[in-house]
Amino acid sequence: MRKHDVVIVGSGLAGLRAAIEMAGRVDVAVVTKVYPSRSHSGAAQGGVAAAMANSSEDSVESHFFDTVKGSDYLGDQDAIEMMTKDAPVTITELEKMGCVFSRDEQGRIAQREFGGHSHPRACYAADRTGHALLHTLFEQSMKYKKNITFYSEFYLLTLIMEEGTARGITMMNIKNGDVEVIHAKTVLFATGGYGRAFKITSNAFACTGDGIMTAYRAGVPVEDMEFVQFHPTGLYGQGILMSEACRGEGGYLLNGKGERFMEKYAKSKMELAPRDIVSRAEQTEINEGRGIDGKDFINLELRHLGREKILERLPQIRQLAIDFLGVDCIDHPIPIQPTAHYSMGGIPVDVDCHVITDAEKTKVPGFYAAGECACVSVHGANRLGTNSLLDASVFGRRAGKAALEFTLKAKHEKISEADEMRKAKKRLDDLLVTPGTESANDIRTELKETMSTHVGVYRTEEGLRFAQGKLKALRHRFKNVRVTDKGKLFNTEIIEALELSNMLEYSEVIVAGAMARKESRGGHARVDYPKRDDVNFLRHTLAHRIGDGAVRLKYKPVSITKYQPEERKY
Ligand code: FUM
Repeated sequence: MRKHDVVIVGSGLAGLRAAIEMAGRVDVAVVTKVYPSRSHSGAAQGGVAAAMANSSEDSVESHFFDTVKGSDYLGDQDAIEMMTKDAPVTITELEKMGCVFSRDEQGRIAQREFGGHSHPRACYAADRTGHALLHTLFEQSMKYKKNITFYSEFYLLTLIMEEGTARGITMMNIKNGDVEVIHAKTVLFATGGYGRAFKITSNAFACTGDGIMTAYRAGVPVEDMEFVQFHPTGLYGQGILMSEACRGEGGYLLNGKGERFMEKYAKSKMELAPRDIVSRAEQTEINEGRGIDGKDFINLELRHLGREKILERLPQIRQLAIDFLGVDCIDHPIPIQPTAHYSMGGIPVDVDCHVITDAEKTKVPGFYAAGECACVSVHGANRLGTNSLLDASVFGRRAGKAALEFTLKAKHEKISEADEMRKAKKRLDDLLVTPGTESANDIRTELKETMSTHVGVYRTEEGLRFAQGKLKALRHRFKNVRVTDKGKLFNTEIIEALELSNMLEYSEVIVAGAMARKESRGGHARVDYPKRDDVNFLRHTLAHRIGDGAVRLKYKPVSITKYQPEERKY
């Protein structure tokens, strides 16, 4: 058994930022199923939001309001206010740590426009902002070699909860298949989102909701899982992110008739309306036969920006479109479609990232969560672009501070190692020992098809009901799944099966929440209930696991401190 003061699961922005905050004071373990520099934060492109002092017109207040409005009023205003206030200092800290932001003519951190923001406030490093931030934090974490132990390529199996408190984790060493326990005073999950259940997604292969489902299986409810963000510009057929920075720099969208159709949907903000609105507009154009050549894609036009600007500001998206579709945006428009991008739901936490279980904010002692796997909720029903890197940085930092304070006063409580090992090994044995006849690949393909078709940009009762039945059937088939590789070394087949079990379970939670939410709000658009319904649904969903595939939904109020909900117009 291994022992550390704190175990952080996840090595993206939130996990590393928290680790750095604690290192030097306590002994920290960082567990990651990939290698830290391959964490999905590195895929974020266009920027990180903060009302810096670049423009005298921008303000923290304006960032606060834009985020509340962008969230379709489901975001918790106490948390949003805190995040937007902490933003400038958090960015300055990252700059001082060495992040190579792009610069404006006066040498300040350059800022560009982004959807739903009333001022240019996206601080950026060309179109590789997440990459620049992630590498900065990873480098910084190297300074604390004595205090931070990295467990790279270890897969999370269970959260150790005894007497209602978090006391560690079990994990599998992917390299040799060994199951191990980390006994800790404090556990912090920063395990990312859950976009991989969709066929077209910008998410890395790793984004399979592992941390969220591990918490859920351990008895923690999950919040607002039905809210999945579809980014308007995924590379056609691939889903790979073509940053919103393209539109921030002046790119626009054209339908098959050559029209800038956003004029019909968001006259004042056009292509820089929030993502839920732009994605719905694209989907409507496609559904009504106005895709390019009548097909299911739209064109992203950048040619007018010119070669020089594209090479300076958007080099990565240019290369990605060349590599994956053979399209050079200097000479041709890029075919795009909405892509599952961000998970607004997750593990419920308070503003200090302490995991909570109900409307009374009852805490789970010793358990924290930050970044995309957590639901604070600063994004509500729809996140604004660039608020994700901000959320991960601000709340990674806050989680580090709060978890440190807790850890300094805590001790290692007793755990029954043998029981924990038995539970963890059972998860593996269930898969390895079963002879099985079902193909994981087939189940995964059908799952993604179902989620994209019936739980995508637009949803209906009929489609959701179909998805519910299909998911139930897939879950039953999964019990008979065949894992052909019975070996211990780098058994990626077993890891993929474990990930699939998470994807199946959270998809059922998404569908349950979406069926019950008979309204349209942010990323959740019900064709059969097209209006937002504040009387009945201005509330967060809390999904509790009450058995294999069985979900009980409860609700909790939204924190409204300053801005009363009003109609959202752009
Ligand atoms: O479009 C983008 O560059 C994505 C940014 C984000 O999701 O915040």
